[in-house]
Amino acid sequence: MMRVKLDRQQISRGSLVLVNRDHPVTRRLGKKSLGLVGQGITMEAAAAFQLNKLLENQRDIVCVSGFRSREEQERIYKDSLKENGEAFTRQYVAMPSHSEHECGLAIDLGENRQDIDFIRPAFPYEGKCQEVRDQLPEHGFIQRYEAGKEAVTGISHEPWHFRYVGLPHSLMIRELGLSLEEYIRMLREREVFTWDWQGRTITVRYVPVKEDSDTICHVPEDGAYQISGDNAGGFVVTWI
Ligand code: DAL
Ligand code: ZN
Repeated sequence: MMRVKLDRQQISRGSLVLVNRDHPVTRRLGKKSLGLVGQGITMEAAAAFQLNKLLENQRDIVCVSGFRSREEQERIYKDSLKENGEAFTRQYVAMPSHSEHECGLAIDLGENRQDIDFIRPAFPYEGKCQEVRDQLPEHGFIQRYEAGKEAVTGISHEPWHFRYVGLPHSLMIRELGLSLEEYIRMLREREVFTWDWQGRTITVRYVPVKEDSDTICHVPEDGAYQISGDNAGGFVVTWI
């Protein structure tokens, strides 16, 4: 194993960053990090690549909203307050600086129909939408706001909002039936989590950031590992 020093500045980078009412977006995405997924709609490049692969030749589903700047999120929030009131807005629109859309890792998908609701697009649990929903985890995406997890995520059930967390985490999260908050908490509590996948063992190690000394972790020497900050106090290091 090889010793790697983790830079605490990087804690807000990576596909596993937690963004919710308690954990704001602290890193702004540059235009160069974005890829196009629809007309005028972008996402972080790796997420965009995976989504485009999945939605290639797909006419029944459209991307409704991807990356949003803080200013856009603020405008959406204020407009919704005016149009829909406070209770609705708190349920379905994250506060400015607290939306996953601001880190380019979230996409709202909608069934392609005449009137598409921008805040709550229809994405039914049947037909083509369900087919795509079933395939999304194989491309690194999870459904982020599930029914029954409202108290944990702080957001109501959103059948249309998907979050890129990358493979293999998307598959583990689906298998375990956890929200991203619960998954990160589980990794933090266990420290090391292993999972058998396609005949191989995946190891996921949680490394909390040290306040008073360097944060060190050990990774395979062949370099086949991934590191993501969790935006909440540590790093998730993954290898097969
Ligand atoms: N609709 C989700 C919660 C957002 O605004 O980020
Ligand atoms: Zn969304």
